[in-house]
Amino acid sequence: MAPSFLILLLLHYLHAFASSQRVNQTESLLKWKANLHYKSQTALSSWVGDNPCSWDGITCDKAGSITNLNLSSNGLKGTLHSLDFLAFPTLMELRLPNNSLYGTIPSSIGRLSQLRVLYLDFNDFLGNIPSEIGLLRSLSLLSLYGNQLNGSIPKEIGILGSLKEVDLSNNNLSGQIPSSIGNLKNLSIFDLSINKFFGLIPQEVGMLRSLSELDLSSNNLSGPIPTSIRNLKNLSLLHLFQNKLSGSIPQEVGMLRSLSELDLSSNNLSVAGTFGYIAPELAYTMEVNEKCDVYSFGVVTMEILMGRHPSDLISALLSQLAPLPSSTPPNWRQMLIKDLIDQRLLVPTGETTVHVASTVRLALVCLQANPQYRPTMRQVSQALTSERPPLPKPFSMVTLEDLVGQDL
Ligand SMILES: *[C@@H]1O[C@H](CO)[C@@H](O)[C@H](O)[C@H]1NC(C)=O
Ligand SMILES: *[C@@H]1O[C@H](CO)[C@@H](O)[C@H](O)[C@H]1NC(C)=O
Ligand SMILES: *[C@@H]1O[C@H](CO)[C@@H](O)[C@H](O)[C@H]1NC(C)=O
Ligand SMILES: *[C@@H]1O[C@H](CO)[C@@H](O)[C@H](O)[C@H]1NC(C)=O
Ligand SMILES: *[C@@H]1O[C@H](CO)[C@@H](O)[C@H](O)[C@H]1NC(C)=O
Ligand SMILES: *[C@@H]1O[C@H](CO)[C@@H](O)[C@H](O)[C@H]1NC(C)=O
Ligand SMILES: *[C@@H]1O[C@H](CO)[C@@H](O)[C@H](O)[C@H]1NC(C)=O
Ligand SMILES: *[C@@H]1O[C@H](CO)[C@@H](O)[C@H](O)[C@H]1NC(C)=O
Ligand SMILES: *[C@@H]1O[C@H](CO)[C@@H](O)[C@H](O)[C@H]1NC(C)=O
Repeated sequence: MAPSFLILLLLHYLHAFASSQRVNQTESLLKWKANLHYKSQTALSSWVGDNPCSWDGITCDKAGSITNLNLSSNGLKGTLHSLDFLAFPTLMELRLPNNSLYGTIPSSIGRLSQLRVLYLDFNDFLGNIPSEIGLLRSLSLLSLYGNQLNGSIPKEIGILGSLKEVDLSNNNLSGQIPSSIGNLKNLSIFDLSINKFFGLIPQEVGMLRSLSELDLSSNNLSGPIPTSIRNLKNLSLLHLFQNKLSGSIPQEVGMLRSLSELDLSSNNLSVAGTFGYIAPELAYTMEVNEKCDVYSFGVVTMEILMGRHPSDLISALLSQLAPLPSSTPPNWRQMLIKDLIDQRLLVPTGETTVHVASTVRLALVCLQANPQYRPTMRQVSQALTSERPPLPKPFSMVTLEDLVGQDL
């Protein structure tokens, strides 16, 4: 008798232990509701009884276990600390954006082992992002923007290989961007804008092959733009403005073919002489389009004619809205074409002079700072194949200024 009684007793204790571990999801939600501010409780008026699967904002699986909690824009005021996350082992989506939730993000959030979506944006959360976020191995979308979170990004974020979108913008986060982000191979949107991050942009950012949007603007980042950025073949948006980045803009930026929005302004990046063949507007918000190729064509054409990179001519033309406008320094306006072209070559004669002059004219038009005024590539090729206008005066006397009045 005695042994079987002991076994029964043991089973009883085990059972009691197990059920005390299995926190009741209904009770957990009702307790949270009771701890929210009074007005928030009226917003959750459907939250009564013992079947949470029928309550507003809640979705369950077939077994009656909660999978989604979505209370966007419900005016909820209170903290998350009375919400026992142990009660939701099957929760996949937690969406609480645009409320007035405050206090810290509880570290117990790491118990939501099935979580894929965590939206806490546009609330009043403060304090650190708990490192327990690293326990959310299935997390794909993480949005915490528009809170008052501070401290640094936990390096554990690098464990979350399923992450596709991370938006931590508009907080008070600081510290360095952890190099562990290099592990996030599926990351497509990464937004850390309007925070206080400092230090270097880690080279590991170049490992994020799926990245399509990278926004690190309005921080305190310093040092160069990492050259590894050339690996981001899918990048369509790159915002690095309002930081303390220095050095020259790497040519690699010009190689990003998917890029449609780029803003590197308000940094300490050097443009003149380093831009090489890239249109100047690439340093500001703009569309990378055919007009950039036209600009590059202008640089290459001028380089061939002059026998050297036309960086000094370009800086004389920069920020001007017309080919050779009146503000261009007189030494450039009155520059003789014969002095501009490569002095190692024979002085052109006869029909060649017409070709040289019109090609200089064409390159100038392509080099205009305002992309709107540049010709299209089609117009360029038409100009190259059509009849050239005769020179207004003998070749040895033609200046840049003389060419500007001419048609292409
Ligand atoms: C959870 O708590 C509710 C309300 O107290 C109760 O009706 C329900 O039976 C409990 N469910 C379980 C599985 O214990
Ligand atoms: C979440 O709730 C809001 C407001 O009720 C609704 O507009 C939105 O579509 C819901 N989102 C999801 C993913 O269920
Ligand atoms: C945020 O919630 C308020 C109501 O609390 C609503 O009026 C507003 O449109 C919401 N904003 C967004 C961006 O959803
Ligand atoms: C973060 O904010 C909390 C609460 O506002 C404050 O106590 C803490 O000192 C801050 N930490 C840092 C690193 O700024
Ligand atoms: C990354 O995305 C691919 C394609 O969507 C998916 O097959 C893979 O499992 C994802 N990797 C991780 C670690 O989630
Ligand atoms: C952000 O942090 C700074 C200190 O780094 C502090 O002075 C400021 O009050 C914080 N702002 C908010 C909105 O928490
Ligand atoms: C590149 O971006 C497009 C959409 O912007 C997406 O469909 C595609 O899957 C991305 N490729 C990679 C390798 O992430
Ligand atoms: C930005 O960093 C510089 C040092 O590089 C530091 O002196 C300055 O206080 C920082 N500014 C902010 C707003 O954190
Ligand atoms: C900008 O960079 C130049 C050198 O490239 C340096 O001399 C200057 O001090 C920097 N300015 C600021 C505000 O950091």
